[in-house]
Amino acid sequence: MQAFKINMKDISIEFPGVRALKNAHFTTEGGRVHALIGANGAGKSTLMKVLSGAYDHWTGAIDINNQEVEIHSTKDAKKLGIQIVYQEVDVALIPYLSVAENILVDGMVNDMGKKQWINWSYINRRAKEVLTRLNVNIPVEKKVSELSLAEKQMVLIARAIQQKCSLLILDEPTAPLSNKETEELFRVVNELKSDQVGVIFISHRLPEIFEICDDITIMRDGEFVTQKFISETNEKEVIEYMLGKSLDESFPKTDVAIGDVAFEVKNLTDAHILKDINLHVNKGEIVGIAGLVGAGKTELCKALFGAEPVTGGEVYLHQEKITIQHPYHAVEKGIALVPEERRKEGVLVHEPVYSNLTLSSLANFTKNGFVNFKKEYEVSKTLIRDLGIKTPDEFQKVEYLSGGNQQKVAVGKWLIADAEVYIFDEPTKGVDVGAKMDIFQLIGRLVSEGKCVVYASCETQEILGITDRVYVMYDGRIAKELVTKQTSEDEILYYSAGGQ
Ligand SMILES: Nc1ncnc2c1ncn2[C@@H]1O[C@H](COP(=O)(O)OP(=O)(O)OP(=O)(O)O)[C@@H](O)[C@H]1O
Ligand SMILES: [Mg+2]
Repeated sequence: MQAFKINMKDISIEFPGVRALKNAHFTTEGGRVHALIGANGAGKSTLMKVLSGAYDHWTGAIDINNQEVEIHSTKDAKKLGIQIVYQEVDVALIPYLSVAENILVDGMVNDMGKKQWINWSYINRRAKEVLTRLNVNIPVEKKVSELSLAEKQMVLIARAIQQKCSLLILDEPTAPLSNKETEELFRVVNELKSDQVGVIFISHRLPEIFEICDDITIMRDGEFVTQKFISETNEKEVIEYMLGKSLDESFPKTDVAIGDVAFEVKNLTDAHILKDINLHVNKGEIVGIAGLVGAGKTELCKALFGAEPVTGGEVYLHQEKITIQHPYHAVEKGIALVPEERRKEGVLVHEPVYSNLTLSSLANFTKNGFVNFKKEYEVSKTLIRDLGIKTPDEFQKVEYLSGGNQQKVAVGKWLIADAEVYIFDEPTKGVDVGAKMDIFQLIGRLVSEGKCVVYASCETQEILGITDRVYVMYDGRIAKELVTKQTSEDEILYYSAGGQ
């Protein structure tokens, strides 16, 4: 069998006001895992959407085994064996259908016109075969709505490979996964590789790329920068190619005098996972919430913001007891949450960048009932610059920004909200290394203004880098309180894993 070799040449594409790709190149082959990396908005997802047939208004050429092919629809791409798993796995699945139905859905729809009936035993058997090939153990009769994120991703991969699959594109597959789930995904990737499938892997986590990939292509501003063997480069060099400059990766921890207790939670419990949570945050302090995916960090953040019902407990702001039963109460009291699921909860995707940025602090832009649009635009421009949000202007709709830039908008809108307590839930997920540093700097600015910050993350390095104190969560409880300067990655991981 001839090895599958793909070559994208001089690919350009424009959207209103944006030249997303400028003569980009990309080449890879079967049996290799190829990393595609670049800063937020560099054009990675767009290039892969071109390859998988999502657009038909691009220019350039695509060759497979030195023969030019036409890819102008997803059908074209699938016929050639090119499959893609988009980052938002939830939207790609039908929750009330079974695992088997979701895996075979494309075939079912295609056959529907010809056949008047569906052969259930065939569908279940076929789905089982595919999952077995991946060495994945998920009951095929189970409803997709009952699966974990990682399992959903496996179902999407199974769906991709049960069709003709010479090339599998994974766009930031690991962003929502725990370490263990990531390992599982990597095992599947290696199996596909040994079956001579080519895998294209997009991620902002560099260590991961060095673990799993053979080759790397780096993009910047819609252009191809370079392609290398992974074995012939290193993280520092990759960052330089990506950003066009070197980056001091040490964390910019701002030194701030820590004041009195500003925010305090006593015996907080919910019906679902949270058990007897006690914590406090002082003025000027950044407090980390560490713990593995599923430990209850997101539930805690939401409960503090009134976005998740609680069954017991008390909350105090400056020694005064407050009741928060709804996000509206939280915002009124000066509590802000940057949620984890940005597309669902963090931004209004159909609205322009400026209104997203100013929405949560509209009162600051309103006088006698009139909105001061000029001020709104100005403040937005400043934030766009400070966070390096890649957009043609402040009027662009958020849905047209790249994934990481949408995240920056979700973070940015709270940075100007003039709150007292800021809760960040995994704010750097899907954000490039340069932009991460910008976000840390802005968080530092908040505490130097006397605000206090709760910072939930499963990235232990970040917790160690920017917090003053850490609460480690395990199974819905605070398992341990640690002083950041006196702890280590090992100690945090020990308590995260349920150590006593
Ligand atoms: N449909 C669209 N309309 C307008 N602009 C778009 C559209 N799709 C992408 N863009 C723009 O093209 C550029 C490249 O976006 P792309 O999503 O490919 O970036 P990316 O490298 O995947 O970034 P990230 O790491 O944030 O996911 C961005 O400036 C983005 O705003
Ligand atoms: Mg992207």
